[in-house]
Amino acid sequence: MCGIIGYTTNKKDAVEIAIAGLKNLEYRGYDSSGIAYNDGKITMVKSKGKIANLDDKLKSLDTTSSIAIAHTRWATHGEPNETNAHPHKVGKVTLVHNGIIENYATLKEELIAKGYEFKSETDTEVATAYIDYCYATYSDKLKAIVEACKKIRGSYAFDIIFEDEPETIYSTRKDSPLIIGYGKDGNFAASDISAILSYTNKYSLIDESDVVRITKDNVTFYNSNLEEVKKEIKIADWDATQYQKNGYDHFMLKEIYEQPKVIQDIYTRFYNNCDYSDLDITSFEKIHIVACGSAMHAALVGKYLLQTYAKIPAMVEVASEYRYAEELITPKTLLIVVSQSGETADTLAALRLAKEKGAYVVGIVNAVGSTIAREVDKCIYTYAGPEIAVATTKGYTTQVAIFATLAINAMKKNNTLVNEEKIKSELLNVENVLNTIISNRELYLDIAQKIYTHNDVFFIGRGIDSAVCMEGSLKLKEISYTHSESYSAGELKHGTISLIEDGTPVIALATNDDLFEKTVSNLKETKARGAYSIFITTDNYKDYNFDEFADKVIMLHKTSEFLQPILVVVTLQLIAYEVAKLKGCDIDKPRNLAKSVTVE
Ligand code: G6P
Repeated sequence: MCGIIGYTTNKKDAVEIAIAGLKNLEYRGYDSSGIAYNDGKITMVKSKGKIANLDDKLKSLDTTSSIAIAHTRWATHGEPNETNAHPHKVGKVTLVHNGIIENYATLKEELIAKGYEFKSETDTEVATAYIDYCYATYSDKLKAIVEACKKIRGSYAFDIIFEDEPETIYSTRKDSPLIIGYGKDGNFAASDISAILSYTNKYSLIDESDVVRITKDNVTFYNSNLEEVKKEIKIADWDATQYQKNGYDHFMLKEIYEQPKVIQDIYTRFYNNCDYSDLDITSFEKIHIVACGSAMHAALVGKYLLQTYAKIPAMVEVASEYRYAEELITPKTLLIVVSQSGETADTLAALRLAKEKGAYVVGIVNAVGSTIAREVDKCIYTYAGPEIAVATTKGYTTQVAIFATLAINAMKKNNTLVNEEKIKSELLNVENVLNTIISNRELYLDIAQKIYTHNDVFFIGRGIDSAVCMEGSLKLKEISYTHSESYSAGELKHGTISLIEDGTPVIALATNDDLFEKTVSNLKETKARGAYSIFITTDNYKDYNFDEFADKVIMLHKTSEFLQPILVVVTLQLIAYEVAKLKGCDIDKPRNLAKSVTVE
């Protein structure tokens, strides 16, 4: 949700480098962007839309500067336009902000009473003015920031330039990510490592409420008592090439193709050197699994596996709703939070609430060193590598893969794991199986051609397939803007079937042998009402007569339920991808979305 980068250097290319870095943060928001730099005075340039528009504007300007702070926006307060775009400048203070200032209305009134005037509708301009007011009061930049932050309620990562010290960046954060990068020619303060990896892999994390003073050759950290503190310098193991499309048309496609390897790696680690084998989830009374978006869909698959196979009662809750289940959280609760980015504000709030209540919290996280990863009691990394496309693919499937290992571990503890060797060999062969499924692109394109002109698509399934349907449906709607709904197959007839008309595409998943016939019946019910039916099942049914109810059939390799959902969802990702491509959508950056949602 908004990306920020600040760079101060002993050269004159700060604008160019800040813009290059900002482009790697574009997944965080892309409705407008802006930059401030020092060309003798603080100059601000802003543009509506993608960063490319800002870049075009800058080409005709003299941007020689050894400092820049830049921002890519996902609007919260005020529509995306140049006035609301960051940076904001009030008095001596210019800043970029990621987060939300919750009490901005009260602060604004206070500041108006003191004579401040505002141009934009944003909460950020209010924060800028408040820091300016504190600077006027204390005449000390660090103190001004600390005192302003005492008054500001909400989440923020700020990069700040003061007019009377125009070669220095001051940064601070609370509940929004920000890291410091140490480059050869200067230093950075950016939302995440992707922004700076082309220049350095050396970075430090900023603790909540620390303030950092960054010059071209020095970085000094202070705690909120303004005592200097030392920080560890870390080395990032992701490299810049992982942030490129490497020949693929879209990041989403590249990331779909990366799945076989990253999932195989999870199972290889699990069977060879699992760093969470000591986690005994069977020792808890109950499990709450909390997440947002696709991670919540992965949680639904996880709940099914943990309940069905490990026999542990599990509940899934959308993170933004979890606080309303507060009374159910006890010290005997295991909370599993699932988050690709490790920064999602609602998920973070849920984990903090559960910790307050004494629950033990495990995180399934991709982004190493992210806030959620740091705050959980135990972090299980998915190691999916950077995911750039806003619609998650490998982020989701690696989360499902981790849940499978947790269920298997629990079954081992319960002595209920049968066919252990068969499951192990299936899991360790996933790369081959998935590569075969992915290579079947023509089939997915063929299906996409049948459905891309329709306004509504329905996904139905039972048991674990019902959870997978939710992700398939979300993929389709988020990247192709096709309205789609996901229903438990048995539930469709209780109302929604009224929406089925001639040619309405219905995609049915039937991978569980015990539920197969029932799902077939449900698909037949839609077919009888004119649906165009797409049936996804497993190859043990290869001799079955699909003709009377399926217009298209996808038959996948049959495996255990620990793996089957991953095989299915990959086909759904590719169908969604092909539909979006046929419709000419901006696949990697769908409208209105942001990948990392750091506001509640
Ligand atoms: C956003 C993204 C989704 C993602 C969700 C949770 O809505 O667009 O793709 O599933 O946030 O993100 P997280 O990083 O916590 O997994």
